[in-house]
Amino acid sequence: MGKMNRRNFVGASTAVLGAAGLRLPLWAQLAASGAASLSVPLLLGADYYPDQTPEPLWEEDARRIAEAGLNNVRIAEFAWVLMEPSEGKFDFDWLQRSVDILHRNNVRVILGTPSAAPPPWLTVKYPDVVEVDEKGNRLHPGGRRFTCPTNATYRRLSLAVATEMAKKFTGHPGVIGWQIDNEFTLGSSPRCYCDYCKAGFQAWLRTKYRTLDQVNQTWGTNFWSQHYSDWAQIPVPLPSGGDPNPGLALDYDRYQSFANASFLEEQLAMLRKLCPKHFVTTNNIGVPYDLIDDRELYAKLDFVAFDNYPGFIDMLFHQQGRTGSFLSDAIPTTVAMQNDFGRSILRKPFLVMEEQSGKAGQSSFSPQPDKGQVRLWSYQAIAHGAMGINYFRWDTATSGAEEYWHGMLNHDRSKSPAFDEILQTVRELKSLGPEFLHSDYEADAALYFDYDCSWAVKIQPGHHQLNYAEQATSWYGAISPSHTGIDIVGPGSDLSPYKIVFAPVVYVLSEVQADKIRQYAKGGGFFVTSFRLGVKTETSQIVRQPLPGYLADVMGVTLEDYVPVYAQNPHVKFSSILAGPEAECGIWADILKPSSAEVLAIYNSGQYSGKPAITMNTFGRGKAVYVGADLHPPDLFRVLGTFAGAAGVQRAIDVPAGVELTVRKSGSRRWLCVLNHKSEVQTIRLNGSFRDAISGTTHRAATEVPRYGVLVLEST
Ligand code: GLA
Ligand code: ZN
Repeated sequence: MGKMNRRNFVGASTAVLGAAGLRLPLWAQLAASGAASLSVPLLLGADYYPDQTPEPLWEEDARRIAEAGLNNVRIAEFAWVLMEPSEGKFDFDWLQRSVDILHRNNVRVILGTPSAAPPPWLTVKYPDVVEVDEKGNRLHPGGRRFTCPTNATYRRLSLAVATEMAKKFTGHPGVIGWQIDNEFTLGSSPRCYCDYCKAGFQAWLRTKYRTLDQVNQTWGTNFWSQHYSDWAQIPVPLPSGGDPNPGLALDYDRYQSFANASFLEEQLAMLRKLCPKHFVTTNNIGVPYDLIDDRELYAKLDFVAFDNYPGFIDMLFHQQGRTGSFLSDAIPTTVAMQNDFGRSILRKPFLVMEEQSGKAGQSSFSPQPDKGQVRLWSYQAIAHGAMGINYFRWDTATSGAEEYWHGMLNHDRSKSPAFDEILQTVRELKSLGPEFLHSDYEADAALYFDYDCSWAVKIQPGHHQLNYAEQATSWYGAISPSHTGIDIVGPGSDLSPYKIVFAPVVYVLSEVQADKIRQYAKGGGFFVTSFRLGVKTETSQIVRQPLPGYLADVMGVTLEDYVPVYAQNPHVKFSSILAGPEAECGIWADILKPSSAEVLAIYNSGQYSGKPAITMNTFGRGKAVYVGADLHPPDLFRVLGTFAGAAGVQRAIDVPAGVELTVRKSGSRRWLCVLNHKSEVQTIRLNGSFRDAISGTTHRAATEVPRYGVLVLEST
């Protein structure tokens, strides 16, 4: 594809589509009006490592990448030492030659800034850039992502090499954009406890609280005589013979997320100045990985880029001893949740910067994806709102820690098992075209995910097995079979577009957020939440009123008690709209005392036998449901599915288990994306006639979806 950026692509397609009287999706109208961020061409490419490839192979690589139909590569994100062999001595000749070769072969370049892996000369000369872990031990160079996000020297040196790269390539016609650093959330770096971070934390607290009195009052530091009379006395939460003050610990998690986001923003500000025509993003992974607030990290970037390795997740689950039927649902569900989060952060299409293309792993690795699975995983991301896919990686490294992270080419540079499948997928995605790839995503439901709740539950889980991200993932898994489309929202999000909002374990709740939920329910929304609701204020103090605190009126209940369950799990007996088989309560039970709410289930054994476990309150024109008992699949599926139905959520078509359905739309056009995650043919029932935009075939009534098959159906 000739040099095309979103501005002239959108310009061109606006003319075409305008002529055809078709309305563009919201963001494209914004783009056309110049309101949206920088231009983003169609991105279907690979992650390429000329820094790890003998130069004589570069021409051949560029030619084969282009012949494969790939239109861009991401390069250099781990090539600091080649770009700056010694401090202040920069050498970009090799990179210039590589970018020129790629450009000559019509392959565009996304450059990565290299601050995820500093050269040895840097860590030897400045050893204190290396982070200190939660035990107070300084890590060691040798891996990657081991540096302190606060350290001024590391920030200066990271910015310096990135600035020299920007100066060098701002005008290169082959360069289209930037990836800052690499996967901020991974490795150990998202939490550093060094003295620079302590000083940074103290400065951050001064900005946030202004006075020490405010800090002492907010954290309640009279407890254990932790009252601070000087900012420099405030510690970081390192081992100290007792648990840290929860207010301090929560603020420290917030500080570390801020420190990483501001590290990124230093480089972003420079790129905005020096490379105004280039888009800028960073690649990361989303919930349930939660060490850094991705909403903060991506706030000023042009689009979200996520990395996607379903096979690796499969291997991780195996390593956790989780096997069998659990996997066949858990993997596509976990990946779907990641994708939905990638889209929801900036509420627009996202890029998969790294898509698994072969056996994945470092010291141990996952099996070869089955034939068709790499294509399926690519379409799953697209079906959830991705606008482009880059495959990791073009070739397979023959040295280094990731020699077994297999790419599109094998070690001997022959085609890997999924090579042709990837080419087919790229051809098909190109034929689906930009209006589809940049179309909006249809979601009637939302899952509420709040980093503060995740961090605060980690600091004080109440039950050692209570994990917020796991609860959010199992709730996502329970609602996704209703195939309604799920946005992942957070504090501050507008809830009004959704028929139903699911919000498990809203442990930290501000009055402002409580009022948003109140207005949502009052206005007709269906709000479903669970145990540990509203226990903590945003300053991590426990509310001084009957639980669920600020939302007692909306939920129409207060709590008689809250109970971590370790044995003799109480039974839960359902009634009314939830009538059905009894369930076993898991690790937690909130004992509810209705003031106005209807009882939908009671505990049916144990100390609180007969007491309400699940209630539903009519509030204004809406409903507010309190699921006080920790429920597991399949009970959770049944219960949350019932509420989705009661909220009027409907799926576009019926699909069997193991088949996923999402809807993308642009103006009056709607595409049903059908994904078969099973290794055997599945049959779906269509109401009406649909044309598959991939194959051009028309389908009616009973339609077969091949194993790992994909349909993109547009009604005719
Ligand atoms: C991540 C990183 C890459 C590489 C791949 C494979 O997503 O961003 O650098 O490590 O995984 O491990
Ligand atoms: Zn630090």
